[in-house]
Amino acid sequence: MKNRKYLLPAAAAGVLALSLTACGGGGSSSGGGGAAGGGDAAANLDGRGPITYVQGKDNSNVVRPLIEKWNKAHPDEKVTFKEQTDQADQQHDDLVQNFQAKNANYDVVSVDVVWTAEFAAKGWLQPLKDKMALDTSGMLEPTIEAASYKGTLYAAPESSDGGILYYRKDLVPTAPKTWDEMMGMCSIAKAKNIGCYAGQFSKYEGLTVNASEAINSFGGSVLDKDGKPSLNTEEAKAGLNNLVKAYADGNIPKEAITYKEEESRQAFQDGKLLFLRNWPYVYNLATTEGSSKVKDVLGMAPLPGKDGPGASSLGGHSAGMSVYSKNKATALDFLKFLTTEETQKFFATQGSLAPVLTKLYDDKELVAKLPYLPVLKTSIENAVPRPVTPFYPAVTKAIQDNAYPAIKGEKPVDAALSDMQKSIETQSK
Ligand code: GLC
Repeated sequence: MKNRKYLLPAAAAGVLALSLTACGGGGSSSGGGGAAGGGDAAANLDGRGPITYVQGKDNSNVVRPLIEKWNKAHPDEKVTFKEQTDQADQQHDDLVQNFQAKNANYDVVSVDVVWTAEFAAKGWLQPLKDKMALDTSGMLEPTIEAASYKGTLYAAPESSDGGILYYRKDLVPTAPKTWDEMMGMCSIAKAKNIGCYAGQFSKYEGLTVNASEAINSFGGSVLDKDGKPSLNTEEAKAGLNNLVKAYADGNIPKEAITYKEEESRQAFQDGKLLFLRNWPYVYNLATTEGSSKVKDVLGMAPLPGKDGPGASSLGGHSAGMSVYSKNKATALDFLKFLTTEETQKFFATQGSLAPVLTKLYDDKELVAKLPYLPVLKTSIENAVPRPVTPFYPAVTKAIQDNAYPAIKGEKPVDAALSDMQKSIETQSK
């Protein structure tokens, strides 16, 4: 992908160049000392017994059957599923509150790739090293990096995520490779009286994902090669402007400003969209749900870019162990269970989630069942991480607060980008 060529390692890894002398406000921060924040609980790594697994809404219906299987095999170390909402920001805030309260019952939690740095720096996640080491050989490199902070693994890569362009094969014979090509096809949608393109534009983490992709796909980047914000560029402007223009001229339907993952999936499945940007989980539901109108006409392709394929934001989740858990030995076994080949295959076949094990992308049986796996692997390998920083909540807020009014036409793109730049800069002071 074009824009990756001139991204040097720091920026390619999305590492925000911040002075990390403090760990940010509030909480029971241990100042980056990892397990130190856990006090007594952290010292005991041998505890065994029931644990709770906390994760956002199980849209793909894979967590319950998996836990049932675990529980049958571990009657004295049963896992209870605590299901959160389907909204990334709410999941984050719930975890923060429970970590701050040192809740021993949030034993294993699903950590979005963008939360690793924050949770690790606060000392809330048990480092997975020494006695608690977890084998990551065979895992996709970006998933390991996203679960690590300052060279230490803090969570078990559980599922990856890369943006996919879903399209209607019955209406467009071949997927557009560039954004302009895609916009050129919007007349087809118009003639059918359906929306042309949607992603996730509600004001939450998904908007950061979509705005960053728009910028990255046109050769811009949120951070430069030194990890400093670099939003005042022609490339970033052109990228964000694509969304602004498409929303203004109706190629992105007005209701899409309220879409998160699920609303946008529903619209596409109901036959109301020609193109949809979303994650791989959509494939399973769009091809199996009885009400889906796109079952037999679902196409999947890389996100469109400027002169060729664009660049996805890297998504995904890892399973982290709370330092406050009293049953860490059980928790570690459960993390290992989540990363086995069998579990990873189950996630892929039952929920079309993106495996973290590299070899599954070339597994003949799996590729026969999930023909999009090569497209997905490329999407993940070329994906651009969102900024890596303990202060991520403030960084994503700066992006959302500005991208949202820009897309709605309430703030000029230039001003939105320079305000984003300024806000992110203040995080490094
Ligand atoms: C998906 C991605 C995650 C991202 C979120 C945004 O869950 O895996 O990384 O932050 O969507 O809504």
